[in-house]
Amino acid sequence: MELDGARAHRISKKIVDWFMANARDLPWRHTLDPYAIWISEIMLQQTQVKTVVPYWNRWMKRLPTIEKLAHARETTVLKLWEGLGYYSRVRNAQRAARRVDVDLGGSFPNTRESISKLPGIGPYTSGAIASIAFNEPAPIVDGNVMRVLTRLFGMNGDPKESETNEKLWTIAKVLVDAASSIRRFDPQSNLSFSGPCSALNQGLMELGATICKPKQPACKLCPMRGNCIAQRDGLTDQIPDIAKRAATTRRYFFA
Ligand code: ADE
Repeated sequence: MELDGARAHRISKKIVDWFMANARDLPWRHTLDPYAIWISEIMLQQTQVKTVVPYWNRWMKRLPTIEKLAHARETTVLKLWEGLGYYSRVRNAQRAARRVDVDLGGSFPNTRESISKLPGIGPYTSGAIASIAFNEPAPIVDGNVMRVLTRLFGMNGDPKESETNEKLWTIAKVLVDAASSIRRFDPQSNLSFSGPCSALNQGLMELGATICKPKQPACKLCPMRGNCIAQRDGLTDQIPDIAKRAATTRRYFFA
């Protein structure tokens, strides 16, 4: 697969332009506060956008700053999270908030490198916050991005397996670097975007969420049709080649 600078620039520009015209109006897209963006990102892990919206609104009303989160009772925080599942996410979030409050005087770190030192924040979340809040050219690869990029470039391996996964992170970095040199950048006036790196990363995720769906992707509406190998070769059912989960076994418990 060839991805030279000129091609990367063309692809990034198409995704950024599409996203600027088609970004969904989501409440966390009206802010550049890294704390608010961080909360949206951890809520969005494993949970759909429409479920997250009311949780995020409630959370930001009750805990509008990282200082408030640092000082909140655990019961308050757990209550705000109730129903989202994976409770380690919210416990880690409070630990990270306390670290920022005590060690950094309450100011959220503003580079991917420093964000990734906080407890519970991995490569995806640090890249998402750095790019969305600060327009840093930090790559991100989540399930949606995996699907979009493997189809676009016709990649055959399992995107969760290390060799293909590393390639995806490399491609995501090349694309976000290319985005960083985009000059013309016209966001919808009612939304806040820090710049083209934010738009590229969110655009990749948005394409995966709204068009490049796992089943029956809406290729006719896709800004990348004409560039996409899977679409050209009729392979959207085969790519991404994700290892099938082992068949589930039903288990019954009495309580
Ligand atoms: N999924 C997780 N974070 C997202 C974002 N910022 N935009 C679109 N989809 C997402």
